[in-house]
Amino acid sequence: MKILLKEISSLVTLVGNNSTPRRGKLMNEIGEIKDGALFFDDKILWVGTTVEADIKLQNGELVPEQIVSLKGRTVFPGFVDSHTHLVFAGDRSGEFAKRISGVSYKQIAKEGGGIISTVSAVRKASEEELFDNASKYLTNAIQHGTVAIEIKSGYGLDTGNEIKMLRVIERLRENYPIYIVPTFLGAHDFPPEYRSNPDGYVELICNEMIPRVSEMNLAKYCDCFVDDGYYTLQQAEKIFKTAMQYGLKVRVHADELADVGAGMLAAKVGAISADHLLFVSEDSLQALSETGTIATLLPGTSYFIRMPYAPAKKILQYSIPIALASDFNPGSCFTENMQIILSLAVVNLGLTCEQAIVASTINGAHALEIADKIGSIEVGKDATFVILDCSSYIEIFYHFGVNHVQSVWVEGKKIA
Ligand code: NIG
Ligand code: FE
Repeated sequence: MKILLKEISSLVTLVGNNSTPRRGKLMNEIGEIKDGALFFDDKILWVGTTVEADIKLQNGELVPEQIVSLKGRTVFPGFVDSHTHLVFAGDRSGEFAKRISGVSYKQIAKEGGGIISTVSAVRKASEEELFDNASKYLTNAIQHGTVAIEIKSGYGLDTGNEIKMLRVIERLRENYPIYIVPTFLGAHDFPPEYRSNPDGYVELICNEMIPRVSEMNLAKYCDCFVDDGYYTLQQAEKIFKTAMQYGLKVRVHADELADVGAGMLAAKVGAISADHLLFVSEDSLQALSETGTIATLLPGTSYFIRMPYAPAKKILQYSIPIALASDFNPGSCFTENMQIILSLAVVNLGLTCEQAIVASTINGAHALEIADKIGSIEVGKDATFVILDCSSYIEIFYHFGVNHVQSVWVEGKKIA
């Protein structure tokens, strides 16, 4: 059906040269049209002002089957949440309570909590249980304005359970209309049975898991947690090289707990995205600035586990493109609400509201290599966008902690 939305108080288009991720000055350009209008079927057919739309209506250039006034509303491309761990089982609320009373994330992991406690729960859970659990969170994400999402495996840590998780992600793709991008994260932690033989587990990842995942076409990317107490640079490089041989591209959990040079490795292997970067060094930033790698910042995690925030201003000075994502997971950031993430990004990372919008829309889409279809409201792209019940995008940041989403549209259809 051809629909014309008009009198949109704030139409945030992100129109511009979107062939590469936005960096530098372009991170502040959101292409806002006040009193905007939008004409679409499953694709965006036309974008302009209400005055222009009225002229086109009169001379028959626009022939909508339905016209809707969106006075007092904001329309934007929807959030692309390019880093989540949305498939899991179990309950780690007790861990949260411990952390609040002063025990650190690292200490909890040492005591058998953390990632490994979710691994035990996932290994016990059926595909059905994992799917039902994930469905609930995915629905929440969509209702809060997410139109595309990356989901990682990484709580199975053996071939069968990693494949089980990736199958669940595949089922989510089949059952939900939004873009869902799967990432293989077998290198999230070392499973208990390989604690004393970490290199043996790296061998298993390279010789068995990656070939199987690739053969079954279950993932687009391969990720690895390169950090103090997790994967070393050498282990990670071996995993990434193998992944690339098998056609998987690379994203990196980099320097989240300490500077181990993971940012530098991300640049070296040509990662699509280097994520977290709380402790990234200037050398790594220099190296990243010379590549196309996107810095994906996850301020929800710093907030939730009370860690420092990534040096966003410095990253901007290096002219590295920034994406913002939730890191949704049961341990280090338990929210699927990107509106909160944006609020944290401006208050605690020091991004401007416009930079946060760019980072969570078009740059997120670049981080998942789907920017030719979504991430901006431009003629020819999917008619995928979100209507907010507020008259300016500033409300997302200013009036925080509530859900501004009125409806979510994917390829011209209202899905929430
Ligand atoms: O991105 N850093 C590694 N992985 C997650 C945490 C996962 C968990 O605690 O379950 C993260 O913060
Ligand atoms: Fe993560």
